[in-house]
Amino acid sequence: MSTTFTIDTATSRANPTPAPMKRVTVPAVRARKGGEPLVMLTAYTVRMAQLLDPHCDMLLVGDSLGQVVYGLPSTVPVTLEMMAAHGAAVVRGSYHALVIIDMPFGSYEESPEQAFRSAAYLLKETGAAAVKLEGGEAMAPTIDFLSKRGIPVMAHIGLTPQAINMLGGYGARGRSDAEQAKLLGDARAVDAAGAFAMVVEGVVEPIAIAITQAVSCPTIGIGASAQCDGQVLVAEDMLGMFDRVPRFVKRYHEVANEISDAAARYAADVRARAFPTQDQTYQPK
Ligand code: KIV
Repeated sequence: MSTTFTIDTATSRANPTPAPMKRVTVPAVRARKGGEPLVMLTAYTVRMAQLLDPHCDMLLVGDSLGQVVYGLPSTVPVTLEMMAAHGAAVVRGSYHALVIIDMPFGSYEESPEQAFRSAAYLLKETGAAAVKLEGGEAMAPTIDFLSKRGIPVMAHIGLTPQAINMLGGYGARGRSDAEQAKLLGDARAVDAAGAFAMVVEGVVEPIAIAITQAVSCPTIGIGASAQCDGQVLVAEDMLGMFDRVPRFVKRYHEVANEISDAAARYAADVRARAFPTQDQTYQPK
């Protein structure tokens, strides 16, 4: 698909040419269990959505935007309003991928009813088709409640960053027998509750494989295993925007260096009065 965009002056939106294609649906994602691996990346802004969309089955508006976009210390302070604003931008910038919005900490844990109100708000405000929430067995009744009321839910088990204050760190899960049994129980519970897919984050590889074999919905690994039904990464991590990334990240580019280099060249031009030139200035006729 072309990545050339024209501005539609009626809406001020950048629309891709050629014409938009049909979006990936929740049933289509479910049907990929055991098939061609599902590709998911995070996106928080319209331009990133435009660039990533042609390559992805799913775009996740992750609450990792708290750290990546806002410089917050964790995902805990992220609000529903932040998720709605970024979610709407990603939907506007995408035409192909299924867009999933993270439910932020505090917006769903209290009760299935609270979760329904928050999820309905996110879907109405953004036009996205699904939400993601963190937690295993304890969240199964909520996943069941939402799914039966028309809100597709992607579960997220293993290392759940919103629980940082309980976990005390971002280390991999599943190193002890007890943790392995808990992870498998969580996976089975959210699967039975109707999750259409589940993120499996930061777990030792054998347990990621065991979970993938045990559940009926696709597993999307991050710091898990290539045997999962799909993979997700934070786009800025894999693009090389940050100096330090977790061990499970593969860097596909060094974008930070390129940005820094471009800024240095711009600064040098400005200081030398070498920018703007005739090409970038307006002259009288
Ligand atoms: O918030 C996020 O970006 C996520 C992914 C890393 C799975 O939850």
